[in-house]
Amino acid sequence: MSIELNQVNFFYGIDQILFDINFTCKSGEILVLLGPSGAGKSLLLRILNLLEIPSTGNLNIAGYYFDFKNRPNIKTIRLLRQKVGMVFQQYHLWPHLTVRQNLTEAPCRVQGLVRKIANARADKLLNRLQLTNFAERFPLHLSGGEQQRVAIARALMMQPKILLFDEPTAALDPEITAQIVSIILELSQTGITQVIVTHEIELARKIASYLLYIEKGKIIEKGDASHFSWPHTNNFAYFLSH
Ligand SMILES: Nc1ncnc2c1ncn2[C@@H]1O[C@H](COP(=O)(O)OP(=O)(O)O)[C@@H](O)[C@H]1O
Ligand SMILES: [Mg+2]
Repeated sequence: MSIELNQVNFFYGIDQILFDINFTCKSGEILVLLGPSGAGKSLLLRILNLLEIPSTGNLNIAGYYFDFKNRPNIKTIRLLRQKVGMVFQQYHLWPHLTVRQNLTEAPCRVQGLVRKIANARADKLLNRLQLTNFAERFPLHLSGGEQQRVAIARALMMQPKILLFDEPTAALDPEITAQIVSIILELSQTGITQVIVTHEIELARKIASYLLYIEKGKIIEKGDASHFSWPHTNNFAYFLSH
C-alpha cells in the first residue's frame, strides 16, 4: 500500500473542513481527488506531504507513518518530502534561477547530490519532457505549459515514489492539457504513484485509475474508473452530469 489515511479530521479554528477521511491507494495508481471548488481537495493533497497537519487521524505514506496525536518532527517531514513530491497549481518556480538551476538546486542542497550527477539527471528529464532547448532560460520567458513541465521535471529530480499535483491543467489550453495528460499516463508506467486534484471531469476521466469524489469535506464516493460510467451515489451522478 502506497498511501493509507485513517480517520482524518481537519479544522481551521472552529471550522471543520475535513470529516473522517479514510482511503487507501495502491502503488502505481493515478488517484484523482475530484469535487467542486471549496470541497477540501487541495487541503487533503497538502496533508499528504504534511504541508498541513490534521488534528486527528493517521497517515501511512511512502513507508512513513504519522499519528497526528503527536506533532511530526521536522526531520521526518523533510525526509518524507524527498519521497513525496508536489507540483503546485501556480508552478512555484524560482524566477531568479534558470530552468536547469530550478532542477538541480534542491537535489544538490537537500540530497547533497554532486553537481555533475545532478546535471546528468536534469538532462535526462529535460529531454524526456521536451525541455532541452529551454535549459538556460528563466521561467518568466516560458509559456504556462512549459513552466508546468519544468515544475514536473523539478519534482521528478528527487526521484519521488509519490507525486502530488494540484489542478495541473487549470491554466492551460486544451492542446497543452493533452500533453500533460500524456506525461501523467507515461509516468504511471514507471510505477510512481500519482495523486491529482482537479474539478475537471474530463481530465479525471482521462487519467484516473481510482477516484475519490469529495463534497464539503466528506468523501461521498470512491472507487475505480468504472464509477465514471456507473456512479453509486446521486451526488456524484449529478456532479458528472453538470
Ligand atoms: N486558512 C484558512 N482558514 C479558513 N478556511 C480555509 C483556509 N484555507 C482554506 N479554507 C477553506 O477550506 C475549504 C477547502 O479549501 P480547499 O482545500 O482549497 O478546496 P478545493 O481545493 O477543493 O477547492 C474551503 O471552504 C476554504 O474556504
Ligand atoms: Mg484547490
